[in-house]
Amino acid sequence: MISAVKGMNDLFGRRAMRWGRMEEDIRRIVENANFTEFRTPILEEIALFKRGVGETTDVVQKEMYDFLDKKGRHVAMRPEGTASVVRAFIEHGIAMNEPMPFKLYYIGPFFRYERPQKGRYRQFHQLGIEIFGDETPQMDAEMIFTACRVLEHFKIDYEVHINSIGCKECRPAYREKLVEYFSSKKEHLCEDCQKRIDTNPLRLLDCKTCNPKAKYHDIPVMTDNLCGSCDTHFKQLKDALEIFHVNGIIDPFIVRGLDYYTRTAFEIVANTGGSQNAVAGGGRYDNLVSDIGGPDTPATGFAMGLERLFDLISEDFYTEPLISAGYALCDEAVDDLVHFAKHMSHHPVRFFADYKPKKFKKALQKADKAGAEFMFIIGEDEAKDKKILMKNLNTGEQKLFGQHEVILIVNELLNYESGKFSATKV
Ligand code: HAM
Repeated sequence: MISAVKGMNDLFGRRAMRWGRMEEDIRRIVENANFTEFRTPILEEIALFKRGVGETTDVVQKEMYDFLDKKGRHVAMRPEGTASVVRAFIEHGIAMNEPMPFKLYYIGPFFRYERPQKGRYRQFHQLGIEIFGDETPQMDAEMIFTACRVLEHFKIDYEVHINSIGCKECRPAYREKLVEYFSSKKEHLCEDCQKRIDTNPLRLLDCKTCNPKAKYHDIPVMTDNLCGSCDTHFKQLKDALEIFHVNGIIDPFIVRGLDYYTRTAFEIVANTGGSQNAVAGGGRYDNLVSDIGGPDTPATGFAMGLERLFDLISEDFYTEPLISAGYALCDEAVDDLVHFAKHMSHHPVRFFADYKPKKFKKALQKADKAGAEFMFIIGEDEAKDKKILMKNLNTGEQKLFGQHEVILIVNELLNYESGKFSATKV
């Protein structure tokens, strides 16, 4: 049997419906905050991610789906969205052609060859937002606030962890301090971290394998080593977050797994106790546009894992639509049912017809299995009198209508639906 590729999921039925609604809600929230959609291709030249995300990151070194295409070009399936958006921002001269700040969002699939587990997949989906052309800490605060608004809409319990990881001016000296600190502890570090001392010492701070931050309590932290302007930026970020009522917990061990960040770095964790509880992460990346060959442009953004968000949304957040089903109990009733289905299709009710004639008992079983709450029946008598029988499967109540009385029937269904949902949902 051929099955799905490991770490990649199918989505259908009730889950697909809920997922679709979740995406609609997200789009509405971010579009109201003046973000417009930005779509980029799944495939990019691998050089983009090497340069953008960083040669020494796990994402680039271990996790990319990359291959040579038929003409021998080395391409990769996007592991994240920021580098692609930056590439497109430069390619389309957006800095020259659009008013700044330029605010965009994307929703789509991303690919990382990680060890699959709950909340971690090889194809996963993100909502991302990016804001170009604004260096203010207040814009960082608005960006973080936007992530919080999404989570609050879905009634998720979360914590925001913030940090500043400095800039080109102050980070090199801090990096040296870390190298010096960890060099004497090399033998107690995992193999990856031993290499990271030379390649990417900041990543030692959030290593989950040897977990240095749990073992050593005097590790130098970036927030004590910021230059004057980064320090002011971080203070102003905290002030602006307070105005937005975002309670940011300062966490000097947030360093992020991607290399492009400057100053603000943040992660949002859900208070569920699960291991994959980072639901969103991001920060400022003031050098990325120029590093990829574009004009000097400050930028900030985040991405939220949609599988993780989906799992956090409570089962009763979305009410199920009312479903109704129509059945013919004899051959003579089939054309009447076709007419009825055609008329019902013009109305905002969820109705489906099953045209294969069957006994009443079988129709009842099928309607029940499909989760229908109302059943419409055309039997021999109804076909003769041009009637249709409506049965409420919750109460057993039955009503006879003329087959052309579709408006009356639809009103009956809509009234029932709105009464039901106002009784169950606040
Ligand atoms: P990231 O932290 O790598 O950041 O990913 C953001 C979120 O995507 C994570 O917090 C997590 O919820 C979700 N995620 C990541 N990998 C997986 C996976 N394998 N399976 C399921 N969910 C996953 C970025 O991608 C940056 N581009 C964010 C950003 C935007 N920074 C600035 N702008």
